[in-house]
Amino acid sequence: MLSKKVEKALNDQVKMEGNSSNYYLALACWADSNGFSGVADFMYQQSDEERFHMLKLMKYVIERDGEAVVPAYDKPSISVKNATEIFQDLYKHEVSVTQSINKLVGICLAENDFTTHNFLQWYVSEQLEEEATAKTILDKIKLMGNDKSAWYHFDRDIAGLSVTSVADSGAQV
Ligand code: FEO
Repeated sequence: MLSKKVEKALNDQVKMEGNSSNYYLALACWADSNGFSGVADFMYQQSDEERFHMLKLMKYVIERDGEAVVPAYDKPSISVKNATEIFQDLYKHEVSVTQSINKLVGICLAENDFTTHNFLQWYVSEQLEEEATAKTILDKIKLMGNDKSAWYHFDRDIAGLSVTSVADSGAQV
């Protein structure tokens, strides 16, 4: 059984993951509308992954006899002007998700909820991977600069990849 404090913190994270999914969906739509079909593909997949993160949390809350709350979403507000900014946003957003997960882990420890603490280790590892991937892509973008041919190949190669597969492949984007 979850304490009310842990239940609320988990539902807050549910909302954050859902908002992340919508935010990445908005970035995917921008990329799709601006000729970056590969980047769009990557971000659509990223959006799906965030929804999976949300569902995993909800299922856990239900498993522990808590109430999983379907969140009301904020309208995603994006202001990107180019594909580079998509990945800068991705990185910044993942850093904020990591901070939120760390806070949640801290609440579980304070509440002596070691079961939830254990469950959340999956998210701790996932965040490590997601931040590292976003950072690797940004490094690659820095190398490409304004080389249009490099961007063409980058957009082609990133299609169909996910954050996890980029990390698993040793980041060969
Ligand atoms: Fe579910 Fe990328 O944080």
